[in-house]
Amino acid sequence: MAKPEPIPPAAPAHEAAERRDWVAYFDRMEGKPPRPTLIRAMDRFGPLELSDAAQPPLAIDLGCGSGQDLVPLLERGWRVWASDAHPEGLARLRARPACAAAIADGRLTVVQADFETVEIPPARLVNASFALPFCPPVHFPALWARIDAAVPPGGRFSGQFFGDRDDWAILEDRTHLTRAETLALFDQYILEHFEEEDRPSTHAGEHHKHWHVFHIVARKR
Ligand SMILES: C[S@@+](CC[C@H](N)C(=O)[O-])C[C@H]1O[C@@H](n2cnc3c(N)ncnc32)[C@H](O)[C@@H]1O
Repeated sequence: MAKPEPIPPAAPAHEAAERRDWVAYFDRMEGKPPRPTLIRAMDRFGPLELSDAAQPPLAIDLGCGSGQDLVPLLERGWRVWASDAHPEGLARLRARPACAAAIADGRLTVVQADFETVEIPPARLVNASFALPFCPPVHFPALWARIDAAVPPGGRFSGQFFGDRDDWAILEDRTHLTRAETLALFDQYILEHFEEEDRPSTHAGEHHKHWHVFHIVARKR
């Protein structure tokens, strides 16, 4: 009897992100947990910091994709303003039961917008998980200025930046920063978590890509 063909391992989500094939990316992210940087940032807000306001604090999720980071925010009582450019990601987000319920009761606002033009409301937490590198470099300084303006003293940023040694740094449509450039974004912040990932990765036993990623949680002074 012929041996069955081995099933090839499923391609990783980031392989689709390299090509900006966002529908394939959302497919591959199905069932994935929220990002650890978001969880760390939420953990850093003590109950007192969150209970002094008249209404629940607002968190932003920029480049929210299909919304895996929204569920823990909503579960912990945050109001959330989430945006992404891709309608399919936002449709999948709206179909999550926790998100549908929060939209219905006004705790979740979902906005389709590009990084190039998005207007960001003031918020205690701005989260951008693996999203900001997909902003074209010419628009990144203005986007970061709008993010920074949205965070009040004592507020936090959580998310990722891609470094200059990442294999995708040669792609002209996205933003890669050196370590010094990344740190300079946070000169008015206390870095609560700064992790530099600088390593090759494999897929199906072969070199896949070199990652150079900064994982950050920071509190504005
Ligand atoms: C790698 S995914 C990250 C999604 C999610 N935050 C996560 O952690 O998996 C990048 C997201 O950025 C969005 N995106 C890419 N370019 C964009 C742009 N110019 N403006 C707004 N969103 C964009 C994509 O639609 C996608 O959802």
